[in-house]
Amino acid sequence: MQRDPKILICAGAKRAGKTYIVNLLFLQHVAELAGRRAKIILGGANQSSIRRNVLDDMEQLLGRRIKLDRQNSFPLFGNRVVCLEGANSDAWKKARGFTAAGMFLNEATALHDRFVKECFSRCSYPGARVFIDTNPENPMHPIKTDYIDKSGSCLHSGRVNIKAFHFTLFDNDTLDPDYVDSIVQSTPSGMFTDRDIYGRWVNGEGVVYRDFDFSRHLLSAGQIAGRRFVRYLYGVDWGYEHFGAIVVIGVTEDGEYVLVREIAAQHQEIDYWVRAAKSVQAAYGDYPFYADSARPEHVDRFRREGLRTINANKAVLSGIEAVAGKIKQDKFYAADCCGRFREEITQYAWNERTGEPVKLYDDVLDAVRYAIYTDENPPFAVLR
Ligand SMILES: Nc1ncnc2c1ncn2[C@@H]1O[C@H](COP(=O)(O)OP(=O)(O)OP(=O)(O)O)[C@@H](O)[C@H]1O
Ligand SMILES: [Mg+2]
Repeated sequence: MQRDPKILICAGAKRAGKTYIVNLLFLQHVAELAGRRAKIILGGANQSSIRRNVLDDMEQLLGRRIKLDRQNSFPLFGNRVVCLEGANSDAWKKARGFTAAGMFLNEATALHDRFVKECFSRCSYPGARVFIDTNPENPMHPIKTDYIDKSGSCLHSGRVNIKAFHFTLFDNDTLDPDYVDSIVQSTPSGMFTDRDIYGRWVNGEGVVYRDFDFSRHLLSAGQIAGRRFVRYLYGVDWGYEHFGAIVVIGVTEDGEYVLVREIAAQHQEIDYWVRAAKSVQAAYGDYPFYADSARPEHVDRFRREGLRTINANKAVLSGIEAVAGKIKQDKFYAADCCGRFREEITQYAWNERTGEPVKLYDDVLDAVRYAIYTDENPPFAVLR
């Protein structure tokens, strides 16, 4: 007990085994409290991520089904585990009023800081322990600065207060080596490799799509004519002072994505973009337009014109990772006639301070990202 840290954090790479080990330690802690009828917090972004990331593995470890009651809680070794959703700014309110004998926070950087702090203040039961797993993010993230950077600090009693363990992908020796190799090869260079493979808390630096190679990934008209496209995706980014853009991406049978056409212009009204979209539809066929949702009146106008228009999934980092992953795997190409694309791909850069891209030279690239990422991660309404 003296050696056990009050707060134990497993941070690092994806698929490294962090959640699995925290799950085991958490079960051990709850078992030590057997029969105390104590409340224990299990926090995650939402109920479905708690189920997917934690409860499914916990069922395997326990060898029994876990069924949540209406309060999203379940009994465990004579105690009660309460599953709390922590992603939103008001999530902390649900954690009020508890006295908790421990907690497990899954994917802590996906939780709202206020929720995390509220949960910590709930753990006042004598001997309460805290277990956290997380992927790395911006190095200024409070999970890093408030907890991980204080690893090794002790309480007045001499007990270790916080202990953080760092994981890389290579720490999980239960994974098939070929699988590990394929993850390494398909993860974009730079920030994504640093975070996802090596578990480092770093922001991106330099250009965003650094694996794009003009000598390999730009195609001539002849090279494009030699490919057979089974379908097309259209992406739309609205702009007036900035460039507006409509892009056409052909998808081959082998899952290659080729930017075959861009229409990029400044100072054009919506009528211009309707005409452009109709000309694209006439040339390539009736496929959905994945559009920036920031201008609902433009989305409505497209729909009124009979253009099938879907609000794009705009998750920036995941979308960039999806496009950059295709570039890394030689699954994304662009026609060499796409002049604005060529300009943007060499200029689009990370803001090293915020961890987000600089919002410049991003118009055609945003349209490309909306099309590819939304096609892979469609909004719920489209799935039905
Ligand atoms: N010690 C172990 N024994 C058996 N299986 C393990 C062990 N550690 C991890 N695994 C398995 O490896 C896979 C990845 O582990 P886990 O989900 O814990 O990774 P993670 O670091 O939480 O990843 P992510 O960041 O993607 O959530 C899971 O299928 C898990 O069951
Ligand atoms: Mg995990």
